[in-house]
Amino acid sequence: MLAWVAGETASWYPGIGGSGAGLRLRKTHERPRCRLYEIEIRGRDKVEMMVVKTRGLDASRRRRDKYAATRPMLTPPLTNDDAAAASTEYMGLQAMHVSLGKRPGRGLASVQPLGLSTDLAAVAMQHVSAPSLREFALQRSRGMAPTVRDLPALLPWTNAGAWLKRYHAAVPADALPVLRGAQSEVVAMFEGFAGFLGPRTGHRALLDKFADHAGQAAEMFLGDDLPTAAAHGDFVAQNMFVLGGGSVAAIDPFPQWQAPVLEDLGRILVGARLFEPDSHRPDYHAARPQPRPRETALLSGYFGSGRIPVGPMRVYLALCTLDRWADTVSKEPPGLLRRQVRSSRVAAAGKYYLRELRHQLPLLLPTSRGWSDTWV
Ligand SMILES: Nc1ncnc2c1ncn2[C@@H]1O[C@H](COP(=O)(O)OP(=O)(O)OP(=O)(O)O)[C@@H](O)[C@H]1O
Ligand SMILES: [Mg+2]
Repeated sequence: MLAWVAGETASWYPGIGGSGAGLRLRKTHERPRCRLYEIEIRGRDKVEMMVVKTRGLDASRRRRDKYAATRPMLTPPLTNDDAAAASTEYMGLQAMHVSLGKRPGRGLASVQPLGLSTDLAAVAMQHVSAPSLREFALQRSRGMAPTVRDLPALLPWTNAGAWLKRYHAAVPADALPVLRGAQSEVVAMFEGFAGFLGPRTGHRALLDKFADHAGQAAEMFLGDDLPTAAAHGDFVAQNMFVLGGGSVAAIDPFPQWQAPVLEDLGRILVGARLFEPDSHRPDYHAARPQPRPRETALLSGYFGSGRIPVGPMRVYLALCTLDRWADTVSKEPPGLLRRQVRSSRVAAAGKYYLRELRHQLPLLLPTSRGWSDTWV
């Protein structure tokens, strides 16, 4: 890998990367599906940092998906080919970088891809030294500069929504296979999740009722031709950097499917609810429905202020919540101890998801008392 980087630095960093530039591997991060290398390039009077991400399964870290073959899932794996996966990620980074280069957007940034090696299944990119949107939201990053720490709390969320909007417009989708472009497929998916989760969680009645209401809501609110775009696939707050001024740049794109645009939004909402500390309090949902300022900011960033399609978005929030719960139930880490810890986490998560479903249920369909178009 370092030989590849050494051979390319002159073109990636023309100012400093010529002969005589020193390379130093600063850190390696092992992840379940990839390895990340932080590399320093030291020229005579300038130092740059870059990242190389190589694809490959680390079986010892990977959680086994007990029901991979049978459970419903929103994004089934299309490729197990590491080189193809690296190319897909590179293409997503590149499309966004080029789009923002041509037409910069306020509050939008990109992580510059430097190169792709299919031999190594590797993507080289600029290193970003900034907290993730999740760290920003939780004010957890120790090294967070005041310029970031003291930003208006909702600004990066609005920018994150606008970032996704641009991504959906920038990444070519026509050649990608379409995933669930029709309303009837969404309805079937709800039935599939209830059928899978019901017997495994012991809450069959609630899940059947939820799937029934969500299916009716899908029929009521989703048109028959859902707007689709190249999916980001992992548009979550951990995969976004908050830069000075509140600009946002997302990484980890995986545009392998053309999918309804509301799915990427649904996924980030589900994740953001999970790290909202209050949402794990048993009485959180029992209180009057709370306005969700971060979520409203994100959705306004995507759709424009006052134009959130609340009905369709609730359908996708429901869909992505069930997908996440099914994923949690199915994944099992290697090792007995980790499995035991995991099973108590799965039980705790189950309680959270039940409360969340009970909260979402009455919001899915209009009642005799009317319809709430406030995002709660
Ligand atoms: N260009 C970068 N600059 C700085 N940090 C990075 C960069 N790319 C990744 N990271 C850090 O490494 C973490 C993991 O990277 P990434 O999200 O690409 O991997 P992953 O989620 O394990 O990948 P995948 O889901 O594609 O298997 C990120 O959350 C971020 O903290
Ligand atoms: Mg990631």
